[in-house]
Amino acid sequence: MTVPETQVRPAFADVQTIYSRAALPDPYPLYQRARQHGEVVALPEWNAAAVFGHDEASQVLRSPAALSGQQLGEEFGGGQTEDGQPGLPEALKLLAPMMLFHNGPSHARLRGLVSAAFTPRVVAEQEELVRSLVRECLAGVGEGPFDVVDKLAIPLPVGVITGMLGLSKADEQQFRDWTQSVAELLGGVDNSPELMARIEQDAREMRSYFRGLADDLRARPQPGLLSALAAAEDEEGRLSSDELLANAVLLLAAGHETTSNLIGRGVLELHRQAGAWNSLLELPEIGNAVADELLRFTSPVQFTGRTLGAPLELGGQVYPAGTRMLLMLAAANRDARTFADPDRLDFSRPNAARHLAFASGPHYCLGASLARLETRVVFGELSRYPQLRVPQQPLHYRPNLTLRGLSRLTVELGPRA
Ligand code: HEM
Repeated sequence: MTVPETQVRPAFADVQTIYSRAALPDPYPLYQRARQHGEVVALPEWNAAAVFGHDEASQVLRSPAALSGQQLGEEFGGGQTEDGQPGLPEALKLLAPMMLFHNGPSHARLRGLVSAAFTPRVVAEQEELVRSLVRECLAGVGEGPFDVVDKLAIPLPVGVITGMLGLSKADEQQFRDWTQSVAELLGGVDNSPELMARIEQDAREMRSYFRGLADDLRARPQPGLLSALAAAEDEEGRLSSDELLANAVLLLAAGHETTSNLIGRGVLELHRQAGAWNSLLELPEIGNAVADELLRFTSPVQFTGRTLGAPLELGGQVYPAGTRMLLMLAAANRDARTFADPDRLDFSRPNAARHLAFASGPHYCLGASLARLETRVVFGELSRYPQLRVPQQPLHYRPNLTLRGLSRLTVELGPRA
């Protein structure tokens, strides 16, 4: 997607910076600058439009004309590595059958196979498990300084989804490494040949691990989602072998980087935004309103994409079929037309739940109830340490533009109240 310099318009240049390393430490001023060209910015240079406005992004996400997964290879660096070598055949084979990249009836079929495990009622049954995992993580760190990303933000979501899928706890470190590869594929800023080779190797290993496990589980069913998927694979036409592997990996990965980025940046922002930590401590209970405001404010998935399968009218202009829609979820979550004083973290905000952090429409995050549960339990448990501090430190972000988060954050827990 390169464009000769002489043709670069200011609007295009501003959107281009959002998709560069320059955006890693703080993309919000860049969103602000780009949206001055409009809530929807046409980008003929990329045959695309960038959508910053909340209502406009929501309209696209809900439209049947907006299709997911149409340009998979190109979007995820599958075309070529930076030295011009062919891209990622193994990784794309693993990604393509994920429900996230399907539309219409095949999407509904794949989502339907697992959705029963993610309803608010079923998820509520996980609360005790989530609480005990959080307490276990915090018990291990004492009062002293510790890295909240490594000791809490990553192990918690991995532990929860490993339990739900029925995977072995002993393999958790392996799952952490693999899902890191999936995240780098989905939103990384590096496409060096070394990284591409590692992603390919991990994709091969994931396929063989889940293939072996699914075969065992079909022979000897166990509790857990993976066993249920393995049983569905047996039934004619319900789930192919590639679909089973892809969607097991999706479930493992989808809730991991996202939730861990929310926890890491949530702890940081609670201490960086004036009065936020104290206002959290004063709340009678830490419920979904807190989770939703943290999701709105931090937007762990900063943007997503769709391709138009039919013309779509948006903001007074008709975009033809084939246009790529770049949906800037994080910018939409700071749209002043929807959220008053949008750059303020405010737990009394009446409409925080309108955020697009979980997207909207047919691909609305399947794990939304689980993510909200994990968030409210984590911050509820952390609030039992009222003297928790985040000392001054250089901030290290993961090299990932889409899944924005810290790679480490030192926190002093202090005594429990
Ligand atoms: C889809 C965000 C946690 C499973 C999505 C999408 C977003 C999102 C934005 C839609 C992407 C798109 O339409 O292009 C988040 C955030 C989370 C989170 C911010 C935590 C803070 C989880 C968890 C799980 C999960 C815990 C489950 C284990 C999924 C799945 C999809 C999805 C399976 C695909 C749904 C579909 O295509 O129908 N998530 N997610 N997510 N999420 Fe999450």
